[in-house]
Amino acid sequence: MKCTVCREPAIIDLRRHNANFCVPHFTKFCRDQVQRAIDEHEMLRPGERALVAVSGGKDSLAVWDLLLDLGVEADGLYVGLGIGSYSDVSHEYAEAYAASRGARLRVVDLVERYGYDIPTGARAARRAPCSACGMSKRHVFDRVALEEGYDVLVTGHNLDDEAAVLFGNVLRWQTEYLGRQRPVLEARDGFPRKVKPLVRLSERETAAYCIVSGIEYQVEECPMAVGNKHLGYKEALNAIEVQSPGTKADFYAGFLRRAASRFEAEAEAERETLGSCAVCGSPTPGEVCAFCRLVERAGGTPGPVPVELGRRSTP
Ligand code: AMP
Ligand code: FES
Ligand code: ZN
Ligand code: ZN
Repeated sequence: MKCTVCREPAIIDLRRHNANFCVPHFTKFCRDQVQRAIDEHEMLRPGERALVAVSGGKDSLAVWDLLLDLGVEADGLYVGLGIGSYSDVSHEYAEAYAASRGARLRVVDLVERYGYDIPTGARAARRAPCSACGMSKRHVFDRVALEEGYDVLVTGHNLDDEAAVLFGNVLRWQTEYLGRQRPVLEARDGFPRKVKPLVRLSERETAAYCIVSGIEYQVEECPMAVGNKHLGYKEALNAIEVQSPGTKADFYAGFLRRAASRFEAEAEAERETLGSCAVCGSPTPGEVCAFCRLVERAGGTPGPVPVELGRRSTP
């Protein structure tokens, strides 16, 4: 197998692009795909400061690395979820990467700050762990990004993630979610701009990127996510992708190009009803936001994220 660009031995074949790449050309391919996503969707403007939500997994470390290499001023944010050794090891990978690049990693630990962990929070709120976890993470991401004055919040969602979420939303015609499923969500009251620069790269590609770049990451799946619907949708799409490479990318890109705008009005209507949480000040349709209610039920202490938390000791 030879690199499509230079004819040197290739290390990866990308069937949906009908191409094989050597290490330098694969690295260039990943960088180009991220740059293209940024340009296509106007994710970042020159000089903007980014906060990258870093889980210690391959996607978020890859996106942080790619943004730093593209010259973006990007700090990391790790949220400690209190999921036993899975969380401890994830945190170590995030710290090790930050140290290797001399980058700033902010840390907000749910147990230290709010007095609850995801397993307890999910049980107390009678939510599926991934739902309690997703809601908690989004809350912390938004608060830290806004309070620390970042222009944009970056997550490591990749093509497989986005196609699987789209698939799930279409299966149940959750049209208000379809209206919000974009690689860029513009800032509005109480929310920072949120972007997903990896939407043009698959999971296999981000894993390969980390390996060829020498980035060590948490390879374990979250123990609480085992058997969830999202993973099932990914498997279903992968089975189709094996038969016809490129289907996943077409499914997602076609949605953005031809369908997403049709659902915007519905998503917008939902947004207009938001007020401020009486406890923490975040946007919410009720009096107290879902996050503060979860923390309270789990026996923790809700409230704003203190600004000094997660700050690096040196400026
Ligand atoms: P997930 O919801 O686990 O699929 O993760 C989606 C994205 O959320 C990742 O790519 C990260 O950018 C971010 N993320 C997930 N877990 C954490 C965490 N514990 N701390 C910070 N960011 C996270
Ligand atoms: Fe959120 Fe596992 S990372 S439930
Ligand atoms: Zn090459
Ligand atoms: Zn609140």
